Amino acid sequence: MSQQPATSMFLRGPFAPVGREIDAVELQVDGQIPRDLNGTLFRAGPNPQFEPLIPSAHHWFDGDGMVHALTLQEGRASYRNRWVHTAAFLAERRRGTAAYGSFMNGGTPAPRMTGFPPLKNPGNTNVTVFDGRLLVFCEGDLPHSLGVDTLETHGQYDFHGDVSGVITAHFKIDPRNGDMLFFGAMGPSITWYRASNDGRLLESHAFLTGVPCFIHDFAVTEGYAIFFINPSIVDIEGVFEGRPSTIWNPEIRNRIAVMSRDTGKVQWIEQDETFAPSHFLNAHQSGRKIIVDANRAPTFGNRIGQRNPFEVALPWRWEIDLDKESVTSKQMADFNSEFPRHNESFTGRKHRFAYYAATRTGRFCENWLFDHVAKHDLDTGNVEYQNVGAELTSPGEPLFVPRANGKAEDDGWVLSMWWDESRDCSEIVVQDAQDFAARPVARIKLNQRVPMGFHGNWVSAG
Ligand SMILES: [Fe+2]
Repeated sequence: MSQQPATSMFLRGPFAPVGREIDAVELQVDGQIPRDLNGTLFRAGPNPQFEPLIPSAHHWFDGDGMVHALTLQEGRASYRNRWVHTAAFLAERRRGTAAYGSFMNGGTPAPRMTGFPPLKNPGNTNVTVFDGRLLVFCEGDLPHSLGVDTLETHGQYDFHGDVSGVITAHFKIDPRNGDMLFFGAMGPSITWYRASNDGRLLESHAFLTGVPCFIHDFAVTEGYAIFFINPSIVDIEGVFEGRPSTIWNPEIRNRIAVMSRDTGKVQWIEQDETFAPSHFLNAHQSGRKIIVDANRAPTFGNRIGQRNPFEVALPWRWEIDLDKESVTSKQMADFNSEFPRHNESFTGRKHRFAYYAATRTGRFCENWLFDHVAKHDLDTGNVEYQNVGAELTSPGEPLFVPRANGKAEDDGWVLSMWWDESRDCSEIVVQDAQDFAARPVARIKLNQRVPMGFHGNWVSAG
């Protein structure tokens, strides 16, 4: 007798899909949107258009991508959401039902029908404006290109024909020149890319890792790109047969690949432990040492039917000694957290402040994943929390938006999306980053929920 619930937690509560694509203007605001905070917050997330083939096996990562755009202008707010029209999304729309099983949990072999790609690229993970278009990234494929204002899908984007392989969703933007730094992981290899902000590929380097592991994110300094090889092993062949895609194999030890951005040469740093790195906050160099900040979980795997399949992830720091080819690590705080972000004008060099979706303890909150956002001062260890008076819950990734002409690293605002369970709608909360625990400066109310999503970016107007 199955103990599995009828539907996955990722089809309920703050994760439940919405059916409508809307354009909303003159949104209700409690407080005041700063008059000099003008631009658009773009957020990517999953929103399955049809009931999954096996609802109990549905995973957060599986849902069809939807882009949400919240535009702020002179104190007023508007909102638009649109599905990403991937090839698999359009094939399922023509069919009128779901055709793909769960990539993460398996259970259904890949569809073998004309017009259906063998694997679904849900286009649901990250979004930004680059090369004059809105790019929506996902794991293991090229991004999709959308209209910046219309959110209409135009097709896939291949950097003007220069990138043909898969790339992941976690790019970095070099604050010195606007270059996009990104990579693809395919089987036991990684390819690193650098493209100018007009989409021209400037360089790429490929190297072997030895294992086909799941590498979701990475870190950069001004001189290096850093990849954490780990025991999450990807079995793409298994997906075709209906098996889970990602298997935790504790016999694989963690290793760190430190790649010179100048030469592509890789130095390998061996580790005597196993863990799952999730998202990287930032990294910087100090002489011949590299300091990397990221969230660390005990494992990353698949647990069909569990209410919460994720492991607690805590902020950690690694210090890599390039001369000794060794690494030390330490836990930086005891709050469970994800989606770390920083003031990205500090990407690749020393930063002080980090922002997270979090809970106040090293466990998940009672409901859903997170119930606070947190600001972490990495120099002092001080942590400040915000939970909007417990009126809202389930916050997503907090974005830091620097104030124009701001001097201090934390001179700016933090924007995050929350769930108002009583209205079953979302709010976007605007905080003064330098007064993080205070009452938010603005709460922008949507009349629809933004399903709990993944990553996004702020794009300033003009
Ligand atoms: Fe991610």
